[in-house]
Amino acid sequence: MLTTEQQARYHADGYLVLPGFKDSAAIAALRARALAIVDAFNPAEGSAIFTTQNQAAASDDWFLGSDRTLRCFFEEAAFAPDGTLKQAKALSINKIGHAMHDLDPVFEQFSRDARLAAIARDIGLVDARVWQSQYIFKQPGIGGEVRWHQDATFFDTTPVSVTTFWFALEEATVDNGCLWVETGGHTSPLRERFVRDGERIAMEKLDDMAWPDNSVAVPLEAQAGDLVIFHGLLPHYSAPNTSPRSRHAFTLHATDGATSYSARNWIQRDAALPVRGFD
Ligand code: FE2
Repeated sequence: MLTTEQQARYHADGYLVLPGFKDSAAIAALRARALAIVDAFNPAEGSAIFTTQNQAAASDDWFLGSDRTLRCFFEEAAFAPDGTLKQAKALSINKIGHAMHDLDPVFEQFSRDARLAAIARDIGLVDARVWQSQYIFKQPGIGGEVRWHQDATFFDTTPVSVTTFWFALEEATVDNGCLWVETGGHTSPLRERFVRDGERIAMEKLDDMAWPDNSVAVPLEAQAGDLVIFHGLLPHYSAPNTSPRSRHAFTLHATDGATSYSARNWIQRDAALPVRGFD
């Protein structure tokens, strides 16, 4: 699937962009399904706000209980001081997570793709295992910042193997909160590890190395249908969406079954819902 040159670029830069990977029909189907899930979501069920800036919010049962189901999470800035939504529910959701790829037929069809299996093999995942799916809305005006981080923080394996598959479902630009990366930064150490102990979670500091200065960050602007693959140690962030346009994206996180998956990772699977590959 990937040329030798593409593989070399991935290993040198820590990421690779594949333009036009998903067609408009596949994107339309996923978008329609996501909007239907949000439409059916009763906000009284859960009030978890997802933010990587305040992990206390993430300790909410709503977050931990999403490891093997699918749940909607509100944007931090969605609420007025009195607790009511400032705009329509469909424009207030930060994301849907985290097991749609295993539980929802539309998401499953998008995620189980022989080309993804081939790409995973091409970049060195011997036995790809897909642990997580996220539909990210990056809502107009209120889509929050996701600070510098490495995705291996959330999916620890020995050796590091987690790889992110990031699909643009709409145009992503510097104005509506596209990804920013540190080219070559995947050779830097893992700074933090997100660990779960029962119903408690914590962020452990592993390395004091500073995050890159924003001046070295490279924006990965993308068109709907583009796929960005990046290494679990690649530092990346996305800025707030201050534009009037949303920036929907879908992500999958896969590790290599040939590595050792930490028992402290927040998502675990068992025979009732086994972890599967892209096939
Ligand atoms: Fe990330």
